Amino acid sequence: MAIPNQQPLAAKESSQKPQLKVIPLRIFKFLLFVLVLVVGFSLVSLSMSRLFGIEGRLGFLPCLDEPSSLNLWMRPPRNLMHGMTDEELIWRASLVPQVKDYPFKRVPKVAFMFLTKGPLPLYPLWEKFLRGNEKLYSIYIHSLPSYSAEFPKSSPFYGRQIPSQVSAWGEMSMCDAERRLLANALLDISNQRFVLLSETCIPLVNFSLVHRHLLRARHSFVSSFDDHGPYGRGRYNPRMAPEVDISQWRKGSQWFEVDRQAAIAIIKDTTFYPKFKEFCRPNCYVDEHYFPTMLSIEMPQRLANRSVTWVDWSRGGAHPATFGGADITEAFLRGVLEGQSCLYNGQPSALCFLFARKFSPSTLPRLLELAPKVLGFG
Ligand SMILES: *[C@@H]1O[C@H](CO)[C@@H](O)[C@H](O)[C@H]1NC(C)=O
Ligand SMILES: *[C@@H]1O[C@H](CO)[C@@H](O)[C@H](O)[C@H]1NC(C)=O
Repeated sequence: MAIPNQQPLAAKESSQKPQLKVIPLRIFKFLLFVLVLVVGFSLVSLSMSRLFGIEGRLGFLPCLDEPSSLNLWMRPPRNLMHGMTDEELIWRASLVPQVKDYPFKRVPKVAFMFLTKGPLPLYPLWEKFLRGNEKLYSIYIHSLPSYSAEFPKSSPFYGRQIPSQVSAWGEMSMCDAERRLLANALLDISNQRFVLLSETCIPLVNFSLVHRHLLRARHSFVSSFDDHGPYGRGRYNPRMAPEVDISQWRKGSQWFEVDRQAAIAIIKDTTFYPKFKEFCRPNCYVDEHYFPTMLSIEMPQRLANRSVTWVDWSRGGAHPATFGGADITEAFLRGVLEGQSCLYNGQPSALCFLFARKFSPSTLPRLLELAPKVLGFG
């Protein structure tokens, strides 16, 4: 009885079905068409913007940088491998803002400038030290021009080589390399402190401490002293007068740390440079005298006259100690860190050294192991 009644109902349903199907199918087709269009368009525009983005990065589209935009001056150079000569670079780097307050939020950075022959064997330790502070530092590497570095793309050392030239210890070419590092680092307006490091240097404390200690310092950490002996005043040449008098002659470690003002004084110097180049020759070791003497004459009150890079001269001889893997123990590192005393901003301080040298490649495993516990990073 109920069956015949259901049949027309079923027939009615089935007769309506085709109609119900047709409309959504058309809408569906239309929507699909729109979807394909939208996806297609966005894919095309994405690849276009990629293309333009890359071109912009390579500098093919200078019109993207409005000449009137401050961005141009705030941003660090995109490519460290520029084509400027030393003369052009130093001129460019010597352009200095004369208005004291920056009209934008400037986050001051520390420039770590590595002066090396080739590889940086201790770089995994530095990476641990730097991790998480990407906005607060810049890295520059000056190595022999024949050396090509192979850091992974993910490393903060990747692409940080600057155009370099051969430099020899004790010669003016060494000071030229240091000035080249400073000039390149000065191109980034955010760099405020500039540390010169070698491949044997290690950080002794964590990054936040280094950054704070340097940015709050009122002095540049350049070791500079008046040594009356044969390796001090004995290297002075009277023909440097009147620019440099024997009483102004200074000696100090090559491994400096300077603020922006001292960095600019160094690169723009044309008064002392020719004198040192001509009269501080082979047995004079110009890299131990030029910057300490020049800065002591130009800005004595702004120098701490001590270095922030620890080195061990206790073994005697012409060179400081080089440490190997077997030397690196917790007690050794604590010995370096503890018992320091110096003046910092005119006050006694127990933190004097932020870096140390000279550590051979064999020290790396032990340093990586001990760093979290003893040095406070890693
Ligand atoms: C860095 O070291 C200092 C002193 O040891 C410590 O007070 C500070 O918490 C450390 N900072 C970080 C981010 O580890
Ligand atoms: C560093 O030495 C110079 C003399 O060369 C002196 O005028 C200056 O006050 C010294 N700096 C400090 C912090 O003592």
